[in-house]
Amino acid sequence: MIEVKNIKKGFGDKTVIQDVSAVMKAGQCNLIIGASGSGKTVLMKCMVGLFQPDEGEILYNGNDFIKMGRADKTEIRKQIGMLFQGSALFDSLNVEQNIMFPLSMFTKWDYKQKLNRVNEVLERVNLPDVNKKFPSELSGGMKKRVALARAVVLNPKYLFCDEPNSGLDPQTSLVIDKLIKDLTIEYNITTVINTHDMNSVMEIGDYILYMYKGNKEWEGNKKDIIFSKNKRLNDFIFASEFLQDAKDMRMLERAGKISDDRNMDELLNKDAPSIMPPSDSE
Ligand SMILES: Nc1ncnc2c1ncn2[C@@H]1O[C@H](COP(=O)(O)OP(=O)(O)O)[C@@H](O)[C@H]1O
Ligand SMILES: [Mg+2]
Repeated sequence: MIEVKNIKKGFGDKTVIQDVSAVMKAGQCNLIIGASGSGKTVLMKCMVGLFQPDEGEILYNGNDFIKMGRADKTEIRKQIGMLFQGSALFDSLNVEQNIMFPLSMFTKWDYKQKLNRVNEVLERVNLPDVNKKFPSELSGGMKKRVALARAVVLNPKYLFCDEPNSGLDPQTSLVIDKLIKDLTIEYNITTVINTHDMNSVMEIGDYILYMYKGNKEWEGNKKDIIFSKNKRLNDFIFASEFLQDAKDMRMLERAGKISDDRNMDELLNKDAPSIMPPSDSE
């Protein structure tokens, strides 16, 4: 579990994260969502220690990561896997060498032990027999899977993924999401994912933190989103009018107000009088 407590971070006189708190549990996908520039990456970098927050605490299983000494910090870092935006594979290393890299850094294993582990994770991400290929020879989805294999090769307790679906088509994105979710459950990882991919939100959002201009605007799970009345969240998630209508229908359906096709027609007809209950958002 990771607890984010009252984190603030600014650059110069510009505040970028304002008093954000969250509890991210193990065995689930914790999503940080929000428009571009809302502070997702800065918050994630604060969580993994790449940025020093101006105020607040980041607790890893109850221990304050910011205040801990060097040796303890290194211990936590060893338990963190990261999947960077754009995969960030080493172009001059082949797949096997890329995935072996963290093993060489953090273990004293011999080549055979390392190779066994590499093959194990490659199999886990459904990529057998690509050991000797170079990143330039792989498709975008394959690169992500190699990067994911590298991120989990040390069996991390914590997995951070910044925009894991950027540049992927919707189908491949789903495969990656599912893989991340399965690994999260299988190894009870506390997984943190930055995304603005709405498919991911609805597919794997066990816990969702919605950032708006550096603030926590809303939190909940994917089911809560369907029924949320937060206007900013709704405008962000259900960006198209069609999806707004679909959400409205879902809410009415739950309230038992859609009883026949006529009501459904009314709802979809822009000129018809609104049958929506008044919104009490914000
Ligand atoms: N190293 C930095 N120095 C100054 N400003 C930064 C730095 N990194 C990010 N920012 C600013 O912080 C804000 C949030 O950025 P970011 O967290 O990258 O947004 P997101 O990941 O949600 O798209 C942006 O306004 C960005 O310009
Ligand atoms: Mg970002």
